[in-house]
Amino acid sequence: MRLDKFVLRSTSMNKDEVLQSIENGLVQVNLQIITDNKHQVHENNVIQLNGKTLFPRPFRYLLLNKTANKICSNVDGHYPSLLNDIDIENIDELHIVGRLDADTTGLVLITDDGRWSFNITRPDMQCAKVYRVNLAKPISVESISLLEKGIMLDGETKPTLPAIVTFISATEVLLSLTEGRYHQVKRMFFAVGNKVTKLHREQIGHIKLNTTADQWRFLSDDEVNSFND
Ligand code: URA
Repeated sequence: MRLDKFVLRSTSMNKDEVLQSIENGLVQVNLQIITDNKHQVHENNVIQLNGKTLFPRPFRYLLLNKTANKICSNVDGHYPSLLNDIDIENIDELHIVGRLDADTTGLVLITDDGRWSFNITRPDMQCAKVYRVNLAKPISVESISLLEKGIMLDGETKPTLPAIVTFISATEVLLSLTEGRYHQVKRMFFAVGNKVTKLHREQIGHIKLNTTADQWRFLSDDEVNSFND
């Protein structure tokens, strides 16, 4: 972790105050004054501010049941950020793991642990995400087979990775994906001549959505550890 991030996570100072303290030589790493705010620090380093050892706040891991017309961004845009629904301290330290469109609802993971979120989003982890998809037209057997095999999306050079489609009704399926391309679900159904009318994420890896709309909760240790390597 960068020194400025470490100090930010360990004190109540804001970013400017942290940078000022480092520049003014008030921060020591293993008893050496370090004035480079980008200096990398490690778990076994002793980091001190004005001679007092700093201990970072533990990482936080949350899930939220996103409703429509909220955006997966730290700042409000055309719609409000979903972080407005979470009333905890130092909210600006959190980030959203993998985005949902403004009109998509369901499971969103939120954390301040960059390594953990990288484990969920990096392609080689092949973390499964399950979406409940409502469709404008009845789905055909051929479409299911194309989606499951992998399909070329407009403007891309590689077909999608194999997916799993679970039939619920003619116009409702569960789709399990191990990648996360831009608007992937909507584009996959468009590619087979259909249209998504409602999209809801129910599961990421082993984590299942079990809070009501707009409600959040902390993840259990087991849920957090299911993504650690
Ligand atoms: N795929 C989409 O098309 N939209 C989402 O929000 C998530 C996956």
